[in-house]
Amino acid sequence: MACESYLDIRAISGALGAEVGGIDLASPLTPAQADALRDALLTHKVIVFRDQSLTPAQLLDTAAVFGDVDVYPFLQGLPDCPKVIEILKLEGEAKNFGGAWHSDTSYFETPAGATLLLALETPAAGGDTLFADTGRAYDALSPAMRRMLDGLVAHNNSDHGYTGGRAAGMARLDGMKSAFVAESGGYEACHPVVRTHPDTGARSLYVNGSHTVRFAGMSEAESKPLIDFLCAQIIRPEFTCRVRWAPGTLTVWDNRAVQHKAINDYAGQRRRMHRVTTRGERPC
Ligand code: SIN
Repeated sequence: MACESYLDIRAISGALGAEVGGIDLASPLTPAQADALRDALLTHKVIVFRDQSLTPAQLLDTAAVFGDVDVYPFLQGLPDCPKVIEILKLEGEAKNFGGAWHSDTSYFETPAGATLLLALETPAAGGDTLFADTGRAYDALSPAMRRMLDGLVAHNNSDHGYTGGRAAGMARLDGMKSAFVAESGGYEACHPVVRTHPDTGARSLYVNGSHTVRFAGMSEAESKPLIDFLCAQIIRPEFTCRVRWAPGTLTVWDNRAVQHKAINDYAGQRRRMHRVTTRGERPC
């Protein structure tokens, strides 16, 4: 894509992900730079910027390049910038946020498009984030399996895997500022198991172990073996990349094309990030 020539782009794995240099996101972006960033995200699915110094308001401005900023209902935003949430794991905490493979807010009717995560405080080592390319995972399936999946729809629920619901789960994370959620029973949405990317036309698997409960018309027990197989297919090592954080690292990922998992391997250390998501389209 021609616009990428505005940026210095280096792939970080054979599957997906690229480091992007040559841009200071705190400065107002030209239309050509914004186009180049959108193209880079569509091409590489995960893009990583180093040494960025962004206020919450500047992070929101950067997010607007990728779409309309959405609200995450389970956590309070920053007092002066409510659409930015803080992801904080304290030194004494055992659990982390986002520690299982997922695609952000797949339980919404219109789930997240892009997520922007800015590192503020990072462990000396550890706390990396893994990403998996759900399009490569789909392409690598047999034609017969792809045909079968093409007709399936899945239920995605925000409470899946959380004792007492997701809101209660957030309240158990001491570093996080949980929000009161009016929805009882969490959020649930039905989405196709194979979705087509609205901008690239690429097809990809849209089930994840954190939120996908069952296939429409099937019980959980009937669905589980195939959900488990698809989740394992998505995270095959050859479909993944890994981002190592430092303060000032900003990573943007496309939830319509990838899943991610925050690795919880930094016991006794603190990790603090600011996160913004944009609202995607209804998957189809
Ligand atoms: C998330 O799931 O959005 C958090 C990812 C991370 O903290 O690395």
